[in-house]
Amino acid sequence: MIQELVFATNNKHKTEEIQSILGNQFKILTLTDIGCTVDIPETGNSFEENATLKSSYVAEHYRLDCFADDSGLEIEALNNEPGIYSARYSGIKDDQINLELVLQKMEGLTNRKARFKTMISLMKNGKNILFEGVINGTIRQVPAGDHGFGYDPVFEPLDYTVTFAQMSMSEKNRISHRAIAMQKLIAFLKGQANPS
Ligand code: IMP
Repeated sequence: MIQELVFATNNKHKTEEIQSILGNQFKILTLTDIGCTVDIPETGNSFEENATLKSSYVAEHYRLDCFADDSGLEIEALNNEPGIYSARYSGIKDDQINLELVLQKMEGLTNRKARFKTMISLMKNGKNILFEGVINGTIRQVPAGDHGFGYDPVFEPLDYTVTFAQMSMSEKNRISHRAIAMQKLIAFLKGQANPS
């Protein structure tokens, strides 16, 4: 039997990618597919809380199983900022301005350690199951590369000599925080699916 599962996003690319990995035992629906046009408030104090707010909103209002993700950059020397404020660190949703603010706050700091983190919350049969993805790295002094988005030009993953923004999309998607969390979710869902 096909299991329907909502991904609390309207990002078509992310949805198609996970649908193709999961195959036809699961049917992934987006927020648009279920007619949800509400901008679900992300008022939590952690990635975990924000992902859970989104997945449980859908579970409660639509009575459907759902998963949601929330990600961000944590910089050790900045007390794990920008963290949940990654998308609007400067107060506005502008990748370039937020990246410049990070570099400005890190001026003169020798501890450049940082990590990207993703939390996925899956609300299934009334239970919340969490999946975490983390990638460690460092913050460059000067941005490099023009692929990707957000803080990609300043994030150099551990054991690499290039930034996320200098990698191809497929290379980044093999190692990223989001990919790690998604792989854990996929392994869980596949383990639950009835073999056909
Ligand atoms: P979201 O929860 O995936 O929408 O991520 C929130 C914010 O974290 C984004 O707007 C970016 O500023 C930052 N972020 C998350 N993942 C990445 C990434 O893979 N590269 C660069 N920035 C990211």
